[in-house]
Amino acid sequence: MPDRDPLVTDLTGMRLATPVILAAGTAGTLDELADVLDLSKVGAIVTKSITRLAREGNETWRILETKAGMLNAIGLANIGIEAFEEHVGPRIAGVPTTVIGSVAGFSVEDFVQVAAVMDGIGAMPAVELNVSCPNVRGGTEFGGEPGLLRELVRAVRPALPHTRLIVKLSPAVVGHPGGIAEFARAAIDAGAQPAGPNQRPGADALAIGNTMPAMAIDVRTRRPRLANTTGGLSGPAIHPVAVRLVYDAHRLVCRDAGVPIIGVGGVVAWDDAAEFILAGATAVGIGTGLFADPRLPIKIARGLAKWAASHGETVGGLVGGVRLGE
Ligand SMILES: Cc1cc2nc3c(=O)[nH]c(=O)nc-3n(C[C@H](O)[C@H](O)[C@H](O)COP(=O)(O)O)c2cc1C
Repeated sequence: MPDRDPLVTDLTGMRLATPVILAAGTAGTLDELADVLDLSKVGAIVTKSITRLAREGNETWRILETKAGMLNAIGLANIGIEAFEEHVGPRIAGVPTTVIGSVAGFSVEDFVQVAAVMDGIGAMPAVELNVSCPNVRGGTEFGGEPGLLRELVRAVRPALPHTRLIVKLSPAVVGHPGGIAEFARAAIDAGAQPAGPNQRPGADALAIGNTMPAMAIDVRTRRPRLANTTGGLSGPAIHPVAVRLVYDAHRLVCRDAGVPIIGVGGVVAWDDAAEFILAGATAVGIGTGLFADPRLPIKIARGLAKWAASHGETVGGLVGGVRLGE
């Protein structure tokens, strides 16, 4: 039995109490779940994605249940970076877990500006670039083309002299000739000029992934069920897709580059999280599962600790530990 805490996780130099993270946009702007979930028992919170200007988001219906998950087209509703800096920024230091700021935008300049303000707030050790939101026009543009992604990361990196950079990729790359590996390489080896000491020329970590572009139709009215017509699918339906993407990104790019992956998609029980770990994820994000049970992250962390102990390992010792062949 390892004598170290089996859950403590090093995510690109950040020490997380557990590898279980609240995924962007599913736990409010910052700490709205604090009444129902002891935040000191989660590894980190990723904020709602913040854009340069405040956004109302799409019309309703913009969130609905499907047979094996959830379909949403929130459309990046958020308070905008100015209000975030003024009202949320001063409260971050009081949140009893690591806070990762999520950044979204519609141009390279948008991303750079929002990231720079988050760096200036000085309370978030990492920001995550949401280049993979399927619910706004242009939301997946940067995450859908490796050349654009590289250009974006190269521009954002110097705006973060004090902050680690996580890039959140789209799962909708399965049909792309280079697959997830090409996007992972573009984000990691972006050729950026490092702004701080020991910084990589690209992403320090990857999150894989976001929701899958999807649609639902009401057959009685013959109308799309979402006001936005299309949306993003999350929950158990996308989990095996995300496991495969984490497996490929880890095996083909991230393991040798020493870049950790946050596996996100359809985790609703501890063994879903364990699958991500074995596929190569260092940490695991939970989104849709929180809507059914906000205390799920604690239950999952407990399950992971027991599972690791049954293998005589820490959770970290099982990263990429899937057994192939004989
Ligand atoms: C209601 C809702 C809002 C979301 N908002 C964001 C967001 O603001 N930024 C982002 O990067 N991802 C957002 N996501 C995607 C989640 O962070 C996550 O990547 C995705 O839902 C897959 O994980 P899950 O199956 O555990 O939900 C949102 C997902 C849902 C369901």
